[in-house]
Amino acid sequence: MNPLRVGVIGLGIGRKHIEGYRTHPGCEVVALCDLDENRLSNMSDEFRIAGKYRDTAALFAEAKLDVVSICTPNSLHRPLAEQAFAAGCHVLCEKPIATSAADGEAMLNAAEAAGKRLGMNFSFRFTAQAAALKARVDAGDLGDIYYGRTVWTRRRGVPGWGGWFGQKKMAGGGPLIDLGVHRLDLALWLMGYPEPEWVMGQTWNALTGAAVADSGNKFDVEDFAAGTIRFKSGQMLSLEASWAGNQRQNERMETRLFGTRGGLVHENIGEGYDFRAELTCERAGALWDDDLHEPAPVPPPSMWEFIEAIREDKPHPADGREGLTVQYLLDALYKSAASGEPVKIG
Ligand SMILES: NC(=O)c1ccc[n+]([C@@H]2O[C@H](COP(=O)([O-])OP(=O)(O)OC[C@H]3O[C@@H](n4cnc5c(N)ncnc54)[C@H](O)[C@@H]3O)[C@@H](O)[C@H]2O)c1
Repeated sequence: MNPLRVGVIGLGIGRKHIEGYRTHPGCEVVALCDLDENRLSNMSDEFRIAGKYRDTAALFAEAKLDVVSICTPNSLHRPLAEQAFAAGCHVLCEKPIATSAADGEAMLNAAEAAGKRLGMNFSFRFTAQAAALKARVDAGDLGDIYYGRTVWTRRRGVPGWGGWFGQKKMAGGGPLIDLGVHRLDLALWLMGYPEPEWVMGQTWNALTGAAVADSGNKFDVEDFAAGTIRFKSGQMLSLEASWAGNQRQNERMETRLFGTRGGLVHENIGEGYDFRAELTCERAGALWDDDLHEPAPVPPPSMWEFIEAIREDKPHPADGREGLTVQYLLDALYKSAASGEPVKIG
């Protein structure tokens, strides 16, 4: 098979996609697309990629792509994915899948109609600690998981202050859909994606309100969100996400799961993006605490896995259907916050 021809649309986090694809010899990034001329020429120079486009119609008409990564503002995920499927491409989409579950469903329908794949870049799964914990959970070391708590709270840090992240029409919401989506996926993935039944959510805008008024920026999303999900199995998961919250750490990321035989913790060390993993597990009648001292071999990035899945005709570890399940939950949490009522998942 010839190397798969890859294009990347949106060159913010899109840089990570270029780097990720370059780890797989079975593909070549041949084209980049961004409205921002500077980003486009800087990145095509840096990575020596000849195809440069500011318009997606020209990209799909001329670049003869097999695979495309969509790394644009959230509201563009659906229209660009539909355009890509119509052009016969597989799509690796940034999180969240879209700004609503209705859009996510349309994307999966378009993928199915085209006979192409929709994968998600749920990047937190593709770390050494997450992979090691998943292996222990799947080996039964936690027994039956009954409760979890998953958190990403930031002290002060609205991404791109004044830009699209703070605008509901383009982003779909605030830290819940931006940061919470990662920790939600990670917890659900470790739990084996149980079927949700009810959610209860609440959002606040206690800290950014005044700053927004002073700056004149458009900002119509929450700065803090919390919620609880109950699953058909009786399991429960609590979630917290913020861009602004009164806490000591700049970034607090934590996922805890409690099971009948053991429990786990996955959390960031200090302020940054290095993580530690800990497992408490019953053995020979006693509770043992295991720390992951040596990070397990770092797993390949989701771009490598996506190319491998296409070439080997096997599932991608982060499928669009899981992206849609997460989006149903996000929609329901926002709906519950707006109505003040619990929301049943259909
Ligand atoms: N997986 C992760 O850890 C992670 C991290 C950051 C962002 N993201 C996600 O990635 C996406 C992009 O976020 P970002 O932080 O890179 O945003 P960004 O604003 O930095 O970059 C988006 C880029 O898309 C370009 N763009 C906008 N409309 C376009 C169009 N019609 N055609 C071509 N280019 C267009 C913009 O010019 C911009 O350069 C979002 O969905 C976000 O949620 C994921």
